Amino acid sequence: MPDQDQILLRGRLLSFSAIPDSPDDKGAYSYEDDGALLIRDGKIVARGRYPDMQAACDAATTRIVDHRPHLVMPGFIDTHIHFPQAQVIASWADQLLDWLNDYTFPEEMKFSDPEHGRRIASGFYDQLVAHGTTTASAYCSSHPASVEAYFGEAERRGMLMLGGKTMMDRNAPDALCDTAQSAYDDSKALLEKWHGRGRVHYVITPRFAITSTPAQLEAAGTLLKEHPQCHLQTHINENHNEISLTLELYPDATDYLGVYESFGLLGPKSLLGHCVHMTNRELQVMRETQSVAVFCPTSNLFLGSGLFNKAGLESAGVRTAIATDVGGGTSYSMLRTLDEGFKILQLQRQRMHPLTSFYWVTRGNAEALSLQDRIGTLEPGTDADLVVLDARATGAMALRMETARTLSEELFVLQTLGDDRAVVETYAAGVPLKT
Ligand code: GUN
Ligand code: ZN
Repeated sequence: MPDQDQILLRGRLLSFSAIPDSPDDKGAYSYEDDGALLIRDGKIVARGRYPDMQAACDAATTRIVDHRPHLVMPGFIDTHIHFPQAQVIASWADQLLDWLNDYTFPEEMKFSDPEHGRRIASGFYDQLVAHGTTTASAYCSSHPASVEAYFGEAERRGMLMLGGKTMMDRNAPDALCDTAQSAYDDSKALLEKWHGRGRVHYVITPRFAITSTPAQLEAAGTLLKEHPQCHLQTHINENHNEISLTLELYPDATDYLGVYESFGLLGPKSLLGHCVHMTNRELQVMRETQSVAVFCPTSNLFLGSGLFNKAGLESAGVRTAIATDVGGGTSYSMLRTLDEGFKILQLQRQRMHPLTSFYWVTRGNAEALSLQDRIGTLEPGTDADLVVLDARATGAMALRMETARTLSEELFVLQTLGDDRAVVETYAAGVPLKT
């Protein structure tokens, strides 16, 4: 790689090395007021103080990009989102099962048309980039063409993306239903084509127990056993009617998680969306299997699902992540997601500190995906996926920032008042994608 492709990116650098265990836990993060990242070949190759870094670079072959006075952080990671729901978001629905039947399934049916999939994929990625999200784990529709559109767009933009074909063979319109065998065959073919190609990760994706027969969940378990390098994603314990129907459909199961457990779907790469209404046994099994509970705040509020008990899950030893869940979720923004998450936790007297929030949407979510060696930090050797944030992006933010004295206050302004207007730039593998 010729030297002229080097970028020295200057700004206020913030990155986490661990979860902050108190507001004063300075050992959990590094902050450099006048910092720089040296970026080459899509990776961060060095990080330090700007004057030192600049002195060490050959001025003739290094392009300097100055993002001061803005914050430069690892790009946001969204651990649960639905790509075919870009035109479902903001639908006036009742709770989960009605919302699925009335709005979501009809919209997802349109993805049998590959052209529709490609058009929505382009718009969907534009939204991720606009909101500073550099990695997401998405459910595609049940049509393999939607997976092609989704990963094709990831490849074009050089983004590290996870996703998979939604497996669903019952309790949905015929046009959306596959079979246990076709879901296995299609998922396997897609996985073999896409997993590890560029920055793409395939995720085995049975939608949830209600829309999968036992035969299909068994097929998903077989696939996971055959491809342990892949993640698995599904939904669980989001809504009371969903839980009752699941237990009717699986009368022999101990509880909802017991369904997934019995088909071998749990493990450190299993991402379980929602986990709002968990029993003590389920918490214990989540911990034992190291499965990840994914908090979807805007969705849980919008669909009236319930309050995610972060402290309860974490004190039981369960790994957690946070996500938008668009289109049950109401914003692509991880800042808006943190704000609504903060309020859900406030209702339970769990006051999340802003350092914890920003840890969560970067390194925390990377750890939940077991990808912290590649994304989620500003460590040299990792991929140069970055977000540049302006805490004075709107009038209300600028006014409030006049009295902000600390980094934590600035972060809290970003989380409480910020959205895509606060995202100055988004880099994937060192390439600016927003401007
Ligand atoms: N459960 C099964 N499918 C879905 C979905 O698309 N969104 C949400 N929020 N929950 C689900
Ligand atoms: Zn979901």
